[in-house]
Amino acid sequence: MSKKNSLSLTNSLRNYLEFYSDIGIDSLDNRVKTLLPATLPTIKNSEDLGIQINCSDNSDQSLPLTKPQVLLKKDPSLEEISLDLVDCKRCRLSQGRSNIVFGSGNPNPSLVFVGEGPGREEDQQGLPFVGRAGQLLTKMIQSIQLQRNEVYICNVVKCRPPENRTPSEDEIATCSPFLFRQLSVLSPKLICCLGLTAVQSLLKLKVSLGRLRNKIHTFQNIPVVATYHPAYLLRNPSAKKEAWEDLKKIRSMLNQ
Ligand code: URA
Repeated sequence: MSKKNSLSLTNSLRNYLEFYSDIGIDSLDNRVKTLLPATLPTIKNSEDLGIQINCSDNSDQSLPLTKPQVLLKKDPSLEEISLDLVDCKRCRLSQGRSNIVFGSGNPNPSLVFVGEGPGREEDQQGLPFVGRAGQLLTKMIQSIQLQRNEVYICNVVKCRPPENRTPSEDEIATCSPFLFRQLSVLSPKLICCLGLTAVQSLLKLKVSLGRLRNKIHTFQNIPVVATYHPAYLLRNPSAKKEAWEDLKKIRSMLNQ
């Protein structure tokens, strides 16, 4: 291959990997490789391009080069969903947002946390659960021997409701299909809903959190449990004891 072609290929691969990295994908697995033509040249490591993306399968660390379209067309993926949200104006929440908060974390997780919607910090940074409630969520995750980057975290609505109000039914109805698509691509072993809005939106039930906790529900055949929202726990620390019981249940379900 000529030096010019090789440079242009390198540049498109860099853009491609940066795009993955921007939407929270930091590992590529063998499913990606099977979609790619075998004849294209390979690079040994994405770090050669100055981008840190880990290969989750250690058996063969080489990464074939290809055009993004090949992957985007064939793979029902998080990035396809996030592309559908670019510049979204489907509901009034778009008017006050600074950033769409799509979700972040491990694209191949055993556990997904679903919150309600971004707050001020999340809106500023474009990332879920990065404020005070997020710090508590990180501790909750670590309490069950997981790291934040091992799970995936997202919300029912992707834009910040003004004054952090609860999203309205029509906002939830407009945005939740994107959450459902995310969950279907992520296909985790378990989903944990944080608070009433998340569990009611997922199960399409109008029942209190008290009645929905302590039970195992399902969404698209994936087990779902509900616990208190970390923001609620910050306001009501006495509920942390019950949340800890929920977390222990989550740990034991993941161990099975
Ligand atoms: N509360 C949520 O429900 N989601 C966030 O991302 C942050 C706070």
